[in-house]
Amino acid sequence: MLADNIDEIITDPATYADEALYHQTFAELRRTDPVHWCNPAQYHPFWAVTRHADIMRVELDAANFLNEPRQFLVTIDDQKMMEEQTGESNFARNLVAMDNPDHKAYRALTADWFGAKSVRALEEKITELARETVDRMVAKGGTCDFAKEIAAWYPLRTIMIVLGVPREDEPLMLELSQKVFGGSDADTGGGEGMTSMLEAFAAFNDYFGRVVADRLVNPQDDVATLLSTATIDGAPIGEAERNAYFLIIAAAGHDTTSSAISGGLLALIRNPDQMAKLRANPDLMPQAVDEFIRWTTPVKHFFRTAVADCEVGGQAVKAGDSLMMCYPSANRDEAAFDDPMEFRIDRKPNRQLAFGYGPHVCLGQFLAKMEIRILFTELLARIEEIELAGEPAWVKANFVSGLKRLPIRYRCE
Ligand code: HEM
Repeated sequence: MLADNIDEIITDPATYADEALYHQTFAELRRTDPVHWCNPAQYHPFWAVTRHADIMRVELDAANFLNEPRQFLVTIDDQKMMEEQTGESNFARNLVAMDNPDHKAYRALTADWFGAKSVRALEEKITELARETVDRMVAKGGTCDFAKEIAAWYPLRTIMIVLGVPREDEPLMLELSQKVFGGSDADTGGGEGMTSMLEAFAAFNDYFGRVVADRLVNPQDDVATLLSTATIDGAPIGEAERNAYFLIIAAAGHDTTSSAISGGLLALIRNPDQMAKLRANPDLMPQAVDEFIRWTTPVKHFFRTAVADCEVGGQAVKAGDSLMMCYPSANRDEAAFDDPMEFRIDRKPNRQLAFGYGPHVCLGQFLAKMEIRILFTELLARIEEIELAGEPAWVKANFVSGLKRLPIRYRCE
């Protein structure tokens, strides 16, 4: 039976900080009402699409399910405030907000750079960074808050290297992206709602404007130079689109990956047989990484909007209706995974949907997987007897969320 307040549960940021509640709720939705009409008080209505097969189908059909005009949950009040303050109905014209033909053209600008082959060129630099990260754990002498002190730092540093941003600017980047993604959770810099989000967007734009000015006179081998000099059909890309590109890479590249890292470690701690298996079989690491990502699914949803009347998962959907792709639900779908509620580091096949699917599939997926693989390889080689040293806690956010606190105890080298 679905709860009377199911629509509030689906949208409440607190649901995403309570794994048991989330998975119970969405298992029931998949079983009884897999494409559910959700009409909560604070948001415009939408269909919650909860099954793996239906999400794949919608995401693959980009001609009939658009990213414009709605990408993620924004309350009606916040949407109004943004329109009043910016005159725009959208935060930024980035890849996530674009459809074809623009999406194809803008994605092509960086597709090679973030392809599987190109990111392998970063392996050495990232290995260095992973060693440094484990050195930080060792220096802490056997206890730390892994989510806050370790997992938040390493992907941020990776993205700064990719973008070509100096190290001293990391704290600013961390603060700004937490304002964008922290949602309603005051512990992670969120909680001040739309105003703080818009301030963060403006500060990002200022910052990247300065980076571009620098790269135009000092070109380097980095994404910042690529974006600063990018052209489409022979003309330089617009300033708004360029800033939005920087923002999506800077912001999408680290909170997501850090959530998969800390959630992956927690899953290993809670499943000591899986931790032992991985330590004994380091060759299983690539499969383990996919399982960390499936298990944690840091991005909780994206939206699509139907172009025409159609049918999704047996429901009649009208032109203009929006659909919420519930990725963590897809990743526990009994029809797509054997024993989906079991954490198995050697799961194969693992058709996890945490990176989305189709033409908008995560641009940074190869980078993210490589980062996670290298960090866990270094970490498990040098850190032993890892256990919880307190209660873990999750960010209350309904868009991107993961652990905000993971106190651990461990033995080093
Ligand atoms: C898009 C998840 C890491 C950059 C996406 C989407 C998801 C996602 C669900 C939307 C896909 C869709 O609409 O079908 C994740 C997860 C990550 C991660 C779970 C880590 C575990 C990264 C990294 C980068 C990145 C490291 C850095 C480059 C992007 C960009 C897009 C995107 C630019 C927009 C792609 C488009 O619309 O064409 N990601 N991401 N992500 N991601 Fe990631």
